[in-house]
Amino acid sequence: MRLFIAAELPSELVEALSETSAELRERVRGRYVGADSFHVTLAFLGSVPGARVDAAASALAQACAGHRAFDAQLGELGSFGKRSAATLWQGFSAGERELAALARDVRDQLECAGFEFDRKPFRAHVTLMRKANLTDGTLLPPAARAAGIIDTATLFSSDLSGDRPRYEPLERVHLL
Ligand code: 2AM
Repeated sequence: MRLFIAAELPSELVEALSETSAELRERVRGRYVGADSFHVTLAFLGSVPGARVDAAASALAQACAGHRAFDAQLGELGSFGKRSAATLWQGFSAGERELAALARDVRDQLECAGFEFDRKPFRAHVTLMRKANLTDGTLLPPAARAAGIIDTATLFSSDLSGDRPRYEPLERVHLL
């Protein structure tokens, strides 16, 4: 199974991200992430045997034990990768420190439990679009802002067999 762990987002943030995404759709060609799939990836495990899912869920629960729910606020748009096939995302102007601390503890617990995961340094972001074509001087729109409380971290499976990725929550942990 293809697994990742992510912070889920409150409705206020999902609504604002949807507004930003709608503005992007008017201007930029590429593959859009649906509003039901917005998340902040904390750790990407990739392919894991089904028998190890429970161990990943336990690592998530242990990592979350010392964390409380926290305020988050959406920030600026940003991009990764080359301009012909960029990943476009919205960042945070508040809550970044808490997300980074959660990502660190999730990764530490995964490591203790013997999991492999992507070790790229954590950068708090919500991906809105992949393979975005920015080569024709496209200007990005202003991002819609909103604040809300992040209180859930979730182990997801990711199914890439269809025309768009499908993410299924396997284990949800609520922060106190
Ligand atoms: P993202 O965090 O930039 O959106 C499921 O594929 C999620 O894991 C996506 O949100 C994806 O990108 C994130 N992810 C992080 N590292 C990844 C990797 N090496 N391969 C695929 N997805 C990765």
